[in-house]
Amino acid sequence: MGMMQPMARDHGRHGCYGNPTDLAHMIKRQLAPARAAWQKPGRVVRALGLRRGQVVAEIGSGPGYFTLRLARAVGPSGRVYAVDPEPAILQVLRERLSRAGVHNVTPVLGLGDDPLLPRGACHLAVIVNAYHHFDHGPRLLRHLTRSLVPRGRVVNIDWDARETPVGPPVERRVAPETFLRDARRAGLILLGSRSLLPHQYFLLLGRRRASRTTP
Ligand SMILES: C[S@@+](CC[C@H](N)C(=O)[O-])C[C@H]1O[C@@H](n2cnc3c(N)ncnc32)[C@H](O)[C@@H]1O
Repeated sequence: MGMMQPMARDHGRHGCYGNPTDLAHMIKRQLAPARAAWQKPGRVVRALGLRRGQVVAEIGSGPGYFTLRLARAVGPSGRVYAVDPEPAILQVLRERLSRAGVHNVTPVLGLGDDPLLPRGACHLAVIVNAYHHFDHGPRLLRHLTRSLVPRGRVVNIDWDARETPVGPPVERRVAPETFLRDARRAGLILLGSRSLLPHQYFLLLGRRRASRTTP
């Protein structure tokens, strides 16, 4: 983690984009193998139902705990846009991709309110443990919706709004009802939810207009 530089702005315990000032520690925690016990990455990726050749946007990818798994799921003919606004974190992701010889991931330095993705390009957008970091969630979701193909989907996984043995303080969490209100304003509707994870909700959404034409 030698590349971790002091943050340009220091907001105390939390720096930019809802991340702690000690990014190296956060990254280590996110990539820790013990996380699998509650994050169940294999089950989560299977539940996304990805197919080879599909295009996935991962918003708030961090150093890529899920990114490499998503890249495997869509295969060499597919693509993952891994979006994060924090350059030091994206640099760690790049190094991990290079070490793993993964060539179907495009790291994207997003803006706080815009993931800067091409329009109509993504079959699925995945947000894991990240929406509660977003300062401009509703605006970001509006941009994200435009980056989906007509029948594209969004999956949001985030912390239950109650005390859990791991996770951020309850006051920083975004309850599913709050996320769904933001999502509706961005033109998304709830298609379903899964009870896969002990501490987190899993919501599946689709574009409002596309869902009306779904048989
Ligand atoms: C807790 S980490 C989760 C990382 C990864 N999804 C995971 O589950 O391991 C939250 C990430 O969201 C990123 N983030 C914060 N604001 C963001 C925004 N507006 N757009 C995209 N990512 C953002 C942070 O920089 C951080 O890397």
